[in-house]
Amino acid sequence: MAALNILEIDGSRVEIFEGPDAACGSAARRIEEAIRKGVERRGKAVLGLATGATPIRLYEKLVEKHRAGGLSFRKVSTYNLDEYYPIGPCDTRSYRSFMVQHLFSHIDLPANQGHVFDGSVPEGAVEEHAKAFDGWIESDGGLDWQLLGLGRNAHIGFNEPSDLTVDKAIRLPSRAVELKAETRELYAEEFGGIDRVPTRALTVGVAQILAAKEIVVLAFGPNKAEPVAKSLLGPIVAAVPGSLLRTVAEKVVWMLDQDAARLLKV
Ligand code: F6R
Repeated sequence: MAALNILEIDGSRVEIFEGPDAACGSAARRIEEAIRKGVERRGKAVLGLATGATPIRLYEKLVEKHRAGGLSFRKVSTYNLDEYYPIGPCDTRSYRSFMVQHLFSHIDLPANQGHVFDGSVPEGAVEEHAKAFDGWIESDGGLDWQLLGLGRNAHIGFNEPSDLTVDKAIRLPSRAVELKAETRELYAEEFGGIDRVPTRALTVGVAQILAAKEIVVLAFGPNKAEPVAKSLLGPIVAAVPGSLLRTVAEKVVWMLDQDAARLLKV
């Protein structure tokens, strides 16, 4: 289904849908198109993917398209935004497990083309691993298409709010980070208490996200109204990581449901 409303806010395209299902249907068509264009142009497509509640319906739609026979991932490479640290890849709460469960095990993506940070690398190799991840993306020719969700504190990937200057924030590489308490609280139930939620994570950096040729942000539900409004209408600051996307506004599409768009006053 088409968007109910399309706005341009400070150079970014904002599409408002009746609900998450319609938004995910439209995002799935954008991914299909990005794959088609990438394969046509350079023989492959490189996608940046997200986990969390927001993209689950989108992944279902991609699996449906694959099963219907029209969409192949054989010439696709994917790079996930983040992973907890430390966590084993087979831990059901790891983002590797999430991707296997919701997407990788249902499609024809070759096993060495679906990349998620390894949350089980030794402590001393964490930074090296994060740096290598940026290197893999670059040696794959960079991201054609990046999918983002938005944290309630407006984080993108696990690039949490900070007091860095914008200039520094937009250059942040992929790296190990400390998770904010408000982020860990959201996962407390899943891990059986906040004390059990990992305090650290690996994340693709803001620089790599902003370098993608096309960026799609999905945000649904009333809890996302405030971070969406701050990201699109407030000042561009590292304290609101979503606002950093406005430094490359012309290649960003925000796909929202009506609840998440509520404070945009449309
Ligand atoms: C996950 C990620 C995070 C989430 C964000 C929203 O890979 O990068 O930034 O997109 O925390 O999470 P949900 O979708 O669960 O609201």
